[in-house]
Amino acid sequence: MKKTYLNKAFPHLLHGGDYNPEQWIDTKEIWDEDMRLMKAANCNEMTVGVFSWSTLEPREGQFDFAFLDEIIERIGKAGGHVVLATPTVAPPHWMAKKYPEILRITKDGNPPALSLGSVRGKTCFTSPKYREKVGIIVRKLAERYAKDPAVLAWHLDNEIYGQCFCENCRKRFREFLKEKYRTVENLNRTYWAKWSSGEVGSFEEIEPPHGGTAYDALYLDWKRFTDLSIIDYLKFQSDIIKSIDPDAVVTTNLMPQRDYDLFEFAKILDFASIDIYPNWGRPSEVGEAIDSAWQYDYVRSLKNRPFMLMESAPGLVSWMPQNKLQRPGILTLAGISAVAHGSDSVGYFQFRKSRGANEQYHGAIVDHEGSENTRIFREVSATGQTLKKIDEVCGCTAEAETALFYDAENLWALDIVYAFSPRHTGYYREDVQYYGVLWKNSIPADIVNSNSDFSKYKLIIMPMQYIVSKKLEEKIAEYVKNGGTIYATYMLGYADENALAHLGGFPAGQLKDVFGIWNEEIDSLLPEEEQEIEFGGKSFTAKEYCEIIHLRTAKARATYQTDFYRGTPCFTVNEYGKGKAYYQAFRDTGEFKNFAIGRILKELNVKSCIASGREGVSAQVRTDGEKEYLFIENYSNEKAEDIVLNGLYEDLLTGERVSSVELCRFGFKVLRRIK
Ligand code: GLA
Ligand code: ZN
Repeated sequence: MKKTYLNKAFPHLLHGGDYNPEQWIDTKEIWDEDMRLMKAANCNEMTVGVFSWSTLEPREGQFDFAFLDEIIERIGKAGGHVVLATPTVAPPHWMAKKYPEILRITKDGNPPALSLGSVRGKTCFTSPKYREKVGIIVRKLAERYAKDPAVLAWHLDNEIYGQCFCENCRKRFREFLKEKYRTVENLNRTYWAKWSSGEVGSFEEIEPPHGGTAYDALYLDWKRFTDLSIIDYLKFQSDIIKSIDPDAVVTTNLMPQRDYDLFEFAKILDFASIDIYPNWGRPSEVGEAIDSAWQYDYVRSLKNRPFMLMESAPGLVSWMPQNKLQRPGILTLAGISAVAHGSDSVGYFQFRKSRGANEQYHGAIVDHEGSENTRIFREVSATGQTLKKIDEVCGCTAEAETALFYDAENLWALDIVYAFSPRHTGYYREDVQYYGVLWKNSIPADIVNSNSDFSKYKLIIMPMQYIVSKKLEEKIAEYVKNGGTIYATYMLGYADENALAHLGGFPAGQLKDVFGIWNEEIDSLLPEEEQEIEFGGKSFTAKEYCEIIHLRTAKARATYQTDFYRGTPCFTVNEYGKGKAYYQAFRDTGEFKNFAIGRILKELNVKSCIASGREGVSAQVRTDGEKEYLFIENYSNEKAEDIVLNGLYEDLLTGERVSSVELCRFGFKVLRRIK
């Protein structure tokens, strides 16, 4: 397998992060210190320019690149590399004042208030005036820096997300609908608009769903449209850069916890990047570790190759309700975890703490104190030292036999659908909990959606896949027929891609044959209610959702123990073609899925990265097809002894040969396989 690096010119792990030197433009001695400290922190990458627009174009049409010239040169001379951001997340204040049409309009129809600094993240994705201004600055930056040897890659905008209800966006939305439906009758039919007499007479009458709608399909179309507008806006920037330097590589920092379709975004990026801000500092760190690992695997799966961890917090953040300090060891372990799951970088926000404004107490590598003599600095520096020692993993990716399904359209539909209380049905949370079963068993996983290739997986776990299109229905049937195993749950296949309910019983169409069941009703339990499940001689708890299903060809493996549906099946398996389809008809508290999927993993002989683990320990493998690197991480509050490996390995940090290891609290190992 060919190695793919973030940038061929510098095929090494990156360590660094956001650097905002324009804040210190009048104190060059700070810049001198920064270069010294960059080296002392074992950093080799700085992301610059994210918030530089007002420095680069202080007045309309007056450009001054002196600061950026100097800083890029200084970083290069100090042995560092630059990821250069387009500054378009935060236009200068004068621009917003002079051209208010560049601003996003909120769902209540208002522009943002224009106090100082308020324009960040508040511009419209379709505004022609903003495109014009963005086009000018991006072109100038590309012409000046694209060929600069210190510049490794381009970071487009920053954490781009949101929606705009301005006149232009509304007009574009109508055009999008017209293109899709052709006639307004088609749209009315698809939206089921006769319900409550909601039919429209022309496309011009349609408004985006301001703060919710009764017509689920309208909401789905709006989400699709906003994603496409953002993607188009990013592509506009990327096209300019590539027209100047066809070899330029572009990325942007994605946020997997937000509700946008990252698979679509990834199509226009050369590599994917992630920002991640876990809630470290809980009594147990395991939950955050699983959530982070899910996010990393998602971002790696977008392009099936290494990605960039662009931002994480060194220390604490400033915007959580409770800004906890990270315990000693977590910073390095979290960085190594990103690499374990496929990142070729460990990046932080930010290098030096802002002296004032909103982020003055947000964690940074260099604190207000200013030296390398802080706990966080030492941990960052140690992380950089470790990355140097494990640099040979750069370019390797993961080979997973299992996949977890996560689908943006399904997320949107479950966010808007009525009837299943509580309103927000917790799809993300549930997906991560299923992923946790694999994590706890040290089993690598890809995150996939309807467009992915299913054939390479022994097992696909598909929680709460409410939206099932004809295409997905056929793909599932084909996959199982050819020998795949699928594990689906409650809410499978109720509606099509327009959120219209499937007729003829759930789950959709031939999925009734694949799973061998028919699902008649779903019970939403009261918060204090529980349902008891009997499975394999053990008792488990169901909560929140219980479906009442009927067997067709499937065999019941577990049954409900209480209420009027006592004795009816709630966990089934069906043989279909050469494969098997499992159905879990209820939401469990975690124990059931661990137990049930644990058994299936054994039956399918899915390979674990280690021979025997411990609670709170997880292992991952990165490989280029020849060399194999094993990462083991310990998130438990205890030392983890006797972790037995699947063979003989060399420890990349100590050079020792090992076939079993012991990890201290928040400890880790990076090992190369010998045999
Ligand atoms: C986001 C932004 C950064 C910074 C951090 C603070 O990730 O991209 O510029 O504001 O939040 O946590
Ligand atoms: Zn707009």
